Amino acid sequence: MMRIPFNRPHATGREMSNFARAMANGHLSGDGPFTRQCHSWLERQAGAGKALLTHSCTAALEMAAILAGIEAGDEIILPSYTFVSSANAFVLRGAVPVFVDVRADTFNLNEQLIEAAITPRTRAIVPVHYAGVSCAMDVILEIARRHGLMVIEDAAQGIMSTFQGRPLGALGHLGAFSFHETKNIISGEGGALLVNEPTMAARAEIIREKGTNRSQFFRGQVDKYTWVDIGSSFLPGEMVAAYLAAQLDEADAITAQRLALWDRYHEAFAELEQAGKVRRPMIAAGCTHNAHMYYLLLSRLEERTAFIEHMKALEIQCVFHYVPLHSSPRGRLVGRASGAMTVTDEVADRLVRLPLWLGLAEHQDRVIDAVLQFFRTRSSGR
Ligand SMILES: Cc1ncc(COP(=O)(O)O)c(C=O)c1O
Repeated sequence: MMRIPFNRPHATGREMSNFARAMANGHLSGDGPFTRQCHSWLERQAGAGKALLTHSCTAALEMAAILAGIEAGDEIILPSYTFVSSANAFVLRGAVPVFVDVRADTFNLNEQLIEAAITPRTRAIVPVHYAGVSCAMDVILEIARRHGLMVIEDAAQGIMSTFQGRPLGALGHLGAFSFHETKNIISGEGGALLVNEPTMAARAEIIREKGTNRSQFFRGQVDKYTWVDIGSSFLPGEMVAAYLAAQLDEADAITAQRLALWDRYHEAFAELEQAGKVRRPMIAAGCTHNAHMYYLLLSRLEERTAFIEHMKALEIQCVFHYVPLHSSPRGRLVGRASGAMTVTDEVADRLVRLPLWLGLAEHQDRVIDAVLQFFRTRSSGR
């Protein structure tokens, strides 16, 4: 029996020929033809702004923290139910992460709790689009406008999703994507920063190129390049961009195939939800999603542990997700929670993610049957 992994990296078939072309181009460092192709694709998709490839979403968030002028003692509002990089990028600049609970439907930052967390030191809100489903960006952007705050979207999981017809990552001042191999569109490690605020674009290039004006030099805008700002090496080499370019070319087809898998799970588990045994994902009004993830919310931690064990015995890998940041050792030291973290703690204990990758279709019935079997055996009192 084949083991069904939680994730399997996808290749479109065009990656190898792109590699060969990248090698023939004789340009293997960053910002060659494939990087430019990816930038154009991302800018077209976003409909505005400037895209810059990075070597990870973590790097894009670190760039965002520098660009946003985050300094020691500044406060950042974000969910606790997220990946460590959403906080770490700002903590590296000396900021205090202020954690706000998530909504019970989407597990996204609860926009109703944001204003209570704002203090005179607050500089930015970092909405994280969990499972590629948008936060309530209309409300968040309005709060940010009223309080003069930056909005930095952690759209690590959000490529190809929209909110009120606009692509995620393009809504805030800055948006960060991940192309890590667990995401929908991949390059192994990889990411991108979308700079939607035009006044930040020139500085973004400089920060990404070690604090130099190298990009301006290559465009012939300055006659020598030099150290002009702080920065680091945030750009990927061309081989990574070559892999990514192959994936971006197929982004519509990849998304469609993932949505078909997602929909099949959703239909298969409708009865379980009606019977009150699980809660299925919810897609908020005004959102289209990219089928990044299929999860189920179980009744409690003990049941989830038994579920993961049951699936593992059937050679199917299912995994839980984030360990909340507010109660992590580092989070407790450098951050604070604004209000109760009730939903965060619940979701962290109860959520389980099912395998979802291109090529799963022929094995998906096995996953579905195994899930249904788990709940049958439980209700029969075993
Ligand atoms: C919400 C979120 N932010 C940031 C990241 C970091 O992405 P990367 O691995 O590309 O640095 C992840 C990775 O899973 C994530 O889920």
